[in-house]
Amino acid sequence: MAIAWTTELELGVAAIDEQHRMLVDMINELIDRIERGEHKQGFLDAIQGMKAYAEYHFAEEEALMERSGYSSRVEHIREHRLFADRVGSFNPGGLLHESLEAEETLAFLNDWFVDHIQDSDRRFVEEVSAEVFEPK
Ligand SMILES: [Fe+2]
Ligand SMILES: [Fe+2]
Repeated sequence: MAIAWTTELELGVAAIDEQHRMLVDMINELIDRIERGEHKQGFLDAIQGMKAYAEYHFAEEEALMERSGYSSRVEHIREHRLFADRVGSFNPGGLLHESLEAEETLAFLNDWFVDHIQDSDRRFVEEVSAEVFEPK
C-alpha cells in the first residue's frame, strides 16, 4: 500500500522533486507504521515529523508561487492547508487498530499526495517560467 515513486511524479525541477521524494518516504514510513500497528509514541513522532516536513515543503512552494505570481495560487494553497489540517486531526489511537479510520487515512494520504503532485504541482511547474526555480 506504499506510494510507489514513478516518473509520473517527477516534475523536472530538482529541488521540488527532491522534497517530494522525501515526503513520499515519510508518508510510506507512516503507512508502514499504521499497517504494522506501531506503538503510539513512535507513531505520533512519525506523524509530527511528516507534518513538519510537509509544512516546510508547502512554504517553499508557496514562496515560489508568490514570486512568480502564479494564477492558481489561492486554490493551490487551499489544498496544502486541507492536507495539513487533516494530518493535524489524525487520531493515533484510532489509526493503530485495524479500523475504517485507518483504511480511510491510508487512502487519503495516498490519493491526496499522488493527485496533488500529478495535477496541482505539475500545473504550477508547467505554467510558470523555469527561471522561477533557478537558485539565486
Ligand atoms: Fe508539492
Ligand atoms: Fe503543492
